[in-house]
Amino acid sequence: MRKYKGSSKLMLQPRSTQEVSQILDYCNSRCLAVVPQGGNTGLVGGSIPVHDEVIINIGSMNNILSFDKVSGILVCEAGCILENLISFLDNEGYIMPLDLGAKGSCQIGGNVSTNAGGLRLLRYGSLHGSVLGLEVVLANGTVLDMLGTLRKDNTGYDLKHLFIGSEGSLGIVTKVSILTPPKLSSVNLAFLACEDYLSCQKILLEAKRKLGEILSAFEFLDINAMDLVLKHIDGLRDPLPSSKHNFYVLIETTGSMESHDKEKLEAFLVQAIESELLTDGVVAQDINQASSFWRIREGVPEALLKEGATYKYDLSLPPEKMYDLVEEMRGRLGTTSNVVAYGHLGDGNLHLNISTQQYDDSILAKIEPFVYEWTSKQRGSISAEHGIGLMKASKIHYSKSAETVQVMAAIKKVLDPNGILNPYKVLPTSVLSQSGRHQPNKD
Ligand code: MLT
Ligand code: ZN
Repeated sequence: MRKYKGSSKLMLQPRSTQEVSQILDYCNSRCLAVVPQGGNTGLVGGSIPVHDEVIINIGSMNNILSFDKVSGILVCEAGCILENLISFLDNEGYIMPLDLGAKGSCQIGGNVSTNAGGLRLLRYGSLHGSVLGLEVVLANGTVLDMLGTLRKDNTGYDLKHLFIGSEGSLGIVTKVSILTPPKLSSVNLAFLACEDYLSCQKILLEAKRKLGEILSAFEFLDINAMDLVLKHIDGLRDPLPSSKHNFYVLIETTGSMESHDKEKLEAFLVQAIESELLTDGVVAQDINQASSFWRIREGVPEALLKEGATYKYDLSLPPEKMYDLVEEMRGRLGTTSNVVAYGHLGDGNLHLNISTQQYDDSILAKIEPFVYEWTSKQRGSISAEHGIGLMKASKIHYSKSAETVQVMAAIKKVLDPNGILNPYKVLPTSVLSQSGRHQPNKD
């Protein structure tokens, strides 16, 4: 994002859990801060060494350890690149339960540590559901073997959940056991246009009702996002070239019977056109066309990067309120910047992006704290899927009560008493020092 610049003299690339354990034991005994790093594709500065933290890069731990063809349970090391896991499973007739634009470089350990959401959470749920087990190394080098492969296990506290989404602040994930769904033979993708946001919401409701169990993704982008993608991403064409539309929606279905799925999708589309919820639309005719439709949606972050600087917000909001924020933001910013909206509408997750030529404090002052206050008033989340990282550590109170943050700080103190793991991230420094723990000295 050209927003964070890391600073470190040392990066270590362990090849085994044992090496991670030895590194952490050494660093902990000397109060040396470390920053765990996966594919370095995060958007909130969570993998950035802020002062001179030692980088522990997990990328060399990239072996697939086992795959059970009957249960679909995959066990692998944390440094496996998501796309490599997707390809491996494809050959086995399975898919990963998560898919995101950064799949070519992000790693499963980073996905787990940030509780990455992505394009298919609507269908397969969050990693809190599909991760069955983890191996984690604690700050003092202790290896926690929680690498279960059981669907059901109610023996005591399910500690793995503490490490899913805690962004390497409680321990370093070294191995992952994950439940993968079977690959189904019939996948369809429709690229649709709506004239107003209310129609997008109604289409979502209809899609849930009429497509039911075959609905696997429901994404949206507004005209500003579409224009940017077509401007910056080479080789893409507007799938609906006859006119411009205010909103675009991608609906994917995944099922096991081609004729049944097509019939359902067609009936849904015909009804949506007749009731004037849709103004135009096209269903991908082959896999190449489907990938070019996905490329439009997945290309928005890259297009924003090419356009200039971006203030990026990743919000969970009630879907009926979501676009009000975009319009209010446009009103506040006038012509100084381009307010771009896209995201996982099916999950109530808005990616609000404010694109400018360069980062500028006067623009930032119009965006923050307004965006956080607005989200908090709706009891929304200031981080739906990107994490808190460095960007929002001091903002966590907009989404979590003071008491809840205190409990988080107390857990951090138990697991990482010297505060060596990913300092300055996730929790505000003020809360950590109150709980009797200091950020390690930057020297
Ligand atoms: C996406 O949905 O495209 C990703 O979360 C990245 C982004 O928000 O820009
Ligand atoms: Zn996203």
